[in-house]
Amino acid sequence: MPNFASKLSILAALLTTGGAWKTYIVPHIQGQDDTPALLTALPSYVTNATIRFAEGTTYNIYTPIKFPSLTNVEIVIEGNLTYPSSISTVQAVVGSSSFPGAWFAFTGGNNVTLRGSSNPKWGWVNGYGQAWWDAQQQTNRPHGFAFSKIANGVIRDMKIWKPVAWNFATSGSTNLHAYNNQIVAVSDTKAFPFNTDGFSAGGANMLFEDNHIQNGDDCLTVGSGAKNIHFRNSHCEGGHGLSIGSLGKGGSVADVQDILIENVVMKNSLYGARFKSWTGGNGLARNVTWKNISFDSVPFPIYITQNYWDQGVGPRPNNTGSTNNTHIQDFLFQNFSGIIQDVPYVEGSCVSDPCWYYVPGATGKEVAIFDLYPGTAINVVAKSISAKTETGGAVTVMCNSTTITTDVGFKCWDGPFQVTKAGF
Ligand SMILES: *[C@@H]1O[C@H](CO)[C@@H](O)[C@H](O)[C@H]1NC(C)=O
Ligand SMILES: *[C@@H]1O[C@H](CO)[C@@H](O)[C@H](O)[C@H]1NC(C)=O
Ligand SMILES: *[C@@H]1O[C@H](CO)[C@@H](O)[C@H](O)[C@H]1NC(C)=O
Ligand SMILES: *[C@@H]1O[C@H](CO)[C@@H](O)[C@H](O)[C@H]1NC(C)=O
Ligand SMILES: *[C@@H]1O[C@H](CO)[C@@H](O)[C@H](O)[C@H]1NC(C)=O
Ligand SMILES: *[C@@H]1O[C@H](CO)[C@@H](O)[C@H](O)[C@H]1NC(C)=O
Ligand SMILES: *[C@@H]1O[C@H](CO)[C@@H](O)[C@H](O)[C@H]1NC(C)=O
Ligand SMILES: *[C@@H]1O[C@H](CO)[C@@H](O)[C@H](O)[C@H]1NC(C)=O
Ligand SMILES: *[C@@H]1O[C@H](CO)[C@@H](O)[C@H](O)[C@H]1NC(C)=O
Repeated sequence: MPNFASKLSILAALLTTGGAWKTYIVPHIQGQDDTPALLTALPSYVTNATIRFAEGTTYNIYTPIKFPSLTNVEIVIEGNLTYPSSISTVQAVVGSSSFPGAWFAFTGGNNVTLRGSSNPKWGWVNGYGQAWWDAQQQTNRPHGFAFSKIANGVIRDMKIWKPVAWNFATSGSTNLHAYNNQIVAVSDTKAFPFNTDGFSAGGANMLFEDNHIQNGDDCLTVGSGAKNIHFRNSHCEGGHGLSIGSLGKGGSVADVQDILIENVVMKNSLYGARFKSWTGGNGLARNVTWKNISFDSVPFPIYITQNYWDQGVGPRPNNTGSTNNTHIQDFLFQNFSGIIQDVPYVEGSCVSDPCWYYVPGATGKEVAIFDLYPGTAINVVAKSISAKTETGGAVTVMCNSTTITTDVGFKCWDGPFQVTKAGF
């Protein structure tokens, strides 16, 4: 048993290092913005601290929260958090020069946990997105959570209700575990929830699992610089796929490697597995696997284009190889099964004629479309693919055999899906 003197020295050590764990319960005042009080208190809670939004309280996050660099800090969202319901109020904030880039902006740190609640009634972050979708308002939309430059981060049990647009971005972070999060970007009207991307993975060594995402854009999007990203055991509904890219926009040089996406259900989603890079870019995306993906009512289960372009700026560039593009190597699509949506229909994000996702010559029955540049795609294989069309018509593929010389797992042509040696 320590004597009095040693107890004193422990106390003194605690006082000098400030080593004690601190908890801050974010205060709430009815009808007022709760952000300023939190921002004032934050400097005292940047290390060894819990910052808690208490259950039973609906907080007004009327202005963005920019967190300073944090070390050993847990942010616990057990109350409900609401954005301003007024579109113009949010737009004014996003348009101002002091906007930190996201409504919840992290700027760095080590060992940071962002945690929601397991109580289904509480812990929701409400973006009031429906009004934005209904008004087709796309000016000065806020990004949700920028979980940036954090080493050893956790994002768990978060629940997002009707975000205005983009949800979680992890650029520049390393060693992240994001699990058991839920995003509900589902419109109650015919208005489409544009750009409500789920997770934008940048950085390295990340595991995303057990997430449930209903949205109107990429479920996952992996950006340039991403390395060793694992996304698994998740449900994606209504959005635009499990995507790599877009890469190489404006001539930029991409670098993506070691990506594994597995055990995902894609439901009523425009794409299943998707790669997109812009003509004129450069760099390499290497070692990317999509495995055990089941799809239900998906028009484009497997889709690669090295020739992504902006329809607004003129005709699609020809894939002649005279310009640069992002190289791809060692891509595997394995164990896909499900139903292709082949009944002519218009997805909600289509606002032009033809739609932005229109593929000239496609019949709607393609399980795979490989739109490649000659000489820059190496070892791209689709294997154990089992698909049916909704109408029962034969499954087809699109692939130009002059663009890839290795066996892609099916006969590379614009025609019926015929499995080849690499495809078994
Ligand atoms: C935070 O806690 C760790 C122990 O977990 C301690 O080593 C460190 O000194 C503390 N830092 C501060 C600033 O209190
Ligand atoms: C990391 O943060 C958690 C709180 O989220 C804390 O319990 C743990 O002690 C911290 N780890 C270290 C090494 O300080
Ligand atoms: C918290 O927010 C969610 C989403 O807006 C809502 O469904 C729920 O009723 C709210 N909880 C309470 C207790 O108000
Ligand atoms: C490919 O990526 C996976 C997933 O990140 C990794 O486990 C594997 O070692 C990588 N393979 C090669 C050859 O780099
Ligand atoms: C394949 O993914 C499904 C979810 O779609 C999952 O239930 C199943 O366990 C996975 N199979 C394997 C072998 O991991
Ligand atoms: C292949 O996909 C089917 C259907 O989604 C699934 O039941 C099975 O577990 C998967 N097998 C492997 C080895 O991933
Ligand atoms: C692509 O090639 C076709 C046929 O050679 C030509 O008509 C078209 O103008 C070309 N498109 C562009 C953007 O160069
Ligand atoms: C191709 O990319 C390289 C490296 O980024 C660059 O130096 C070169 O100018 C590009 N060529 C064209 C035709 O864009
Ligand atoms: C196939 O790609 C080559 C370029 O490698 C192009 O010249 C040709 O027009 C393409 N064929 C079709 C049917 O698109």
